[in-house]
Amino acid sequence: MEKKFVLEAKGISRTYKGEVPVPALKKTDIAFKEGEFAAIIGRSGSGKSTLLRILAALDIPDTGEIYVEQKKISDLNDSELARFRRRRIGFVYQDYNLFPEYTTYENIVFPIHLDGRTEDKAAIEKLMSDLGILHCRDKFPHEMSGGEQQRTSIARALATEPAVILADEPTGNLDAENAAKVVELLRFCSEKYSQTIVMVTHDQSMASYADRIIRISDGVVTE
Ligand SMILES: Nc1ncnc2c1ncn2[C@@H]1O[C@H](COP(=O)(O)OP(=O)(O)OP(=O)(O)O)[C@@H](O)[C@H]1O
Ligand SMILES: [Mg+2]
Repeated sequence: MEKKFVLEAKGISRTYKGEVPVPALKKTDIAFKEGEFAAIIGRSGSGKSTLLRILAALDIPDTGEIYVEQKKISDLNDSELARFRRRRIGFVYQDYNLFPEYTTYENIVFPIHLDGRTEDKAAIEKLMSDLGILHCRDKFPHEMSGGEQQRTSIARALATEPAVILADEPTGNLDAENAAKVVELLRFCSEKYSQTIVMVTHDQSMASYADRIIRISDGVVTE
């Protein structure tokens, strides 16, 4: 059976206003199927984070539409959008975006609690162990290395078991061994749980784990 698109962008553009406007994304069409593992690769400043934020509905494009599971994002009201983001999308921020006053464990379960649910403690600890951060369970972000914070941010995105995981340079701060572990875990999520993974990277060896490589250059996407 032909798999449906879970995430689709049609004609999206984004220009950052300012003294000199920056056209970061130019009329882009892109679509992802269920269970697909896609890598987005491109140079610094090419528009990767801009694209990912728009795909996650964290930023609004100037033109174009985003569809998630065939639903047009712009048709959702604020509370529908918030609920949808909480339940269906896991986002790994390039700069981790952890709460400084929360421990690793509290950061990871935060989106589950926000959604009014209770976490499966054993499952969370297994995820932390898979990512090699169980020893950081009760530490605060400022007590951890950049790589440990990055893996906490990945665990937080995976903990809600979202349909789509959007990860912005999830291995940017990791050594080769930990980077491979993270990408293998993402691959496992796509194969075992049919989660759709979109991973931004500038590392060709990380991109080679993906089913599909999308290139972006000066805000223009090519496959
Ligand atoms: N908030 C902003 N205001 C103005 N310009 C911005 C803003 N965010 C990004 N830009 C510009 O838009 C372009 C694309 O930025 P983006 O962050 O999407 O690049 P990137 O491919 O993720 O780069 P990197 O690999 O360094 O993370 C860059 O030229 C950047 O300077
Ligand atoms: Mg970026």
